[in-house]
Amino acid sequence: MTRQILVTHALPYANGPLHLGHALEAVQTDIWVRFQRLRGHDCLFVCAEDTHGTPIMIRAQQQGQTPEELIAASAAEHLRDYQQLLIGHDQFHSTHSEENRKLCAELYERLQAGGYIARRSVRQAYDEQAQMFLPDRYVRGTCPRCKSVDQYGDSCEVCGSTYSPAELIDPVSTLSNTPPVWRESEHLFFRLGAFETMLREWLASGSLSGAVRAKLDEWFAAGLQDWDISRDQPYFGFEIPGSPGKFFYVWFDAPIGYIASFVALAARRGLDFDRYWKSETATELHHFIGKDISYFHTLFWPAVLHGAGLRRPTNVCVHGFLTINGQKMSKTRGTFITARSYLDSLPPEPLRYYFAAKLSGGIEDIDLSLEDFIARTDSDLVGKLVNIASRCAGFIERGGGRLATALPDAELYAQFAAASEEIAALYEQREYGSAMRQIMNLADRANKYIDQHKPWAMAKDPARSEEVRAIATQGINLFRVLMVYLAPVLPKIAEAAGRFLGGPLDAWQAAATPLLGSALAPYQPLAQRLDPAVVFRLVASEPAAAPTKATPAKSAPAKTVATKPATAAPAATAAPGADAAATIGIADFARVDLRVARVLAASHVEGSDKLLQLTLDLGAGQRNVFSGIRASYAPEKLLNRLVIVVANLEPRKMRFGVSAGMVLCASGSEGGIFLLDVDSGAQPGMKVS
Ligand code: 2FM
Ligand code: ZN
Repeated sequence: MTRQILVTHALPYANGPLHLGHALEAVQTDIWVRFQRLRGHDCLFVCAEDTHGTPIMIRAQQQGQTPEELIAASAAEHLRDYQQLLIGHDQFHSTHSEENRKLCAELYERLQAGGYIARRSVRQAYDEQAQMFLPDRYVRGTCPRCKSVDQYGDSCEVCGSTYSPAELIDPVSTLSNTPPVWRESEHLFFRLGAFETMLREWLASGSLSGAVRAKLDEWFAAGLQDWDISRDQPYFGFEIPGSPGKFFYVWFDAPIGYIASFVALAARRGLDFDRYWKSETATELHHFIGKDISYFHTLFWPAVLHGAGLRRPTNVCVHGFLTINGQKMSKTRGTFITARSYLDSLPPEPLRYYFAAKLSGGIEDIDLSLEDFIARTDSDLVGKLVNIASRCAGFIERGGGRLATALPDAELYAQFAAASEEIAALYEQREYGSAMRQIMNLADRANKYIDQHKPWAMAKDPARSEEVRAIATQGINLFRVLMVYLAPVLPKIAEAAGRFLGGPLDAWQAAATPLLGSALAPYQPLAQRLDPAVVFRLVASEPAAAPTKATPAKSAPAKTVATKPATAAPAATAAPGADAAATIGIADFARVDLRVARVLAASHVEGSDKLLQLTLDLGAGQRNVFSGIRASYAPEKLLNRLVIVVANLEPRKMRFGVSAGMVLCASGSEGGIFLLDVDSGAQPGMKVS
């Protein structure tokens, strides 16, 4: 039966860049969505920019922008990051949209009509200079418990106690540095307590994981409090109908943004609102979130939906936090990695695979150890998976390019195909780590098969060419099954594998039947090893400023990272007609990995009149390269053009970012820069020799 499923991950807040924690969640969700689609289900995937609230209003003021300008710029960046991570949203919308404004008003009115909204007065810190009420985080002062100075208005970072800003000793507003006054104002509350029985029933019937249930039990035991859903003006958000000067609190309108994004998608695709939002049986609704926001998603959100006459989520899939090299992500420790800095120097799929290998259905934290990341990419993706295809492809190619018409070991193939349901069940439960282990065990068996049959030895004897073809056909087919199983995690590699195999790997069922007698396209490398220098640079400190104190030995990986000026001309540049440099052997030349690349994006670099920033598709991943060709090429002229790149040039950290490669051009004393041309038909990633 085809399931109709709607999936979301947490909406990114428009107040900062995506970091690898966001990437983890988006990848976890995207794998699940791609898996469902591969299985033939109807799976919609929506997201939106989370745009409202005081921090955005204040930041926009500080930057001399309107909040609308700020959120538009942020949404564009977030979307670009998600796309480069290969996150396949059907819709990326905004909580600051007409759909959301209308939905917030509608849901609120239904809650009000149901008697779920209460009004009462709240005493709150008010900044007379800034003329606004202050969120707790905007008041600082001395902790009333341990007397540590300069603590937030809601909790103390030193002793960990929580309190209200009114309890702080010597409070000051962080906006104006003046002491706040205390003012009363009427607020609107959502009566969460009225939903306890409903929530307990939902909890019992739903598919929430054990750890999430346990947390909910704790919250029930502590008692469900009314939830303040209003904020006084000035506030960037939606004004509450019937309450002038009062705005919906950002956490009220953010999850409603899930519905708004669906509505925008529904308008494009002609989807039925009631089917997705009024029935709990016709369709499924799955929210992927981090454990820090489970209170909002497992208590407030189902209660708001239910109170407004809408369906509750089928499941809330909660994951743990991401740590880097065993440490919390932190800017001061250098372990805060933005999605952008990752994507500017590394391809998305190794990271997707690594996350998959570490993820389970539970809420434990997940560690990204950079060393382990390099090792797993090398051993699993390159050494095990892709190796199967690259070992076998040449034999088929040399034998005329066609697969054999029968498998020499049908039993082994059947075993690979029979793993399908077990692996599918693991994906369904979000036990991706176990799924990856199963798949890699199969990859080991495929490699062992090839090792045992030694087609390279047989190939020396022309009389055994059919046998060689059969062995290679077996290997290619085992690879194909694994590629189907990995397609949710490695969508681009699966696409490239599909081109090699002569048909897309777009259905889980494809693993059941081998590919026989058909032609293969020429094999292109599907994945590459990661350069450790590039990976470790993700956490290396900026090399710009000379250290003022002795640097501890631990920060040694930052060592020689591009302290050389990035502008130095390559020493070997020779004028036309100049004597050639000393001769080199073919082995020297072979050390230079020249590749065809396609220009996916090109832009001017602010602060440089020579450079263009290029995003290049190298077949097995994307690269950011800065190229000194601005004088001769307008960025828009370069889009889609094929160029030749030195792919194994040590990445250089420049003032503007990391440049991972060099685009080849001719230049001479007469001036002018000329990109080397590649005839059409060549594909990104092809080796140039
Ligand atoms: O925690 C966050 O980053 C929020 N922006 C998530 C919102 S998710 C949903 F409720 F909208
Ligand atoms: Zn304290």
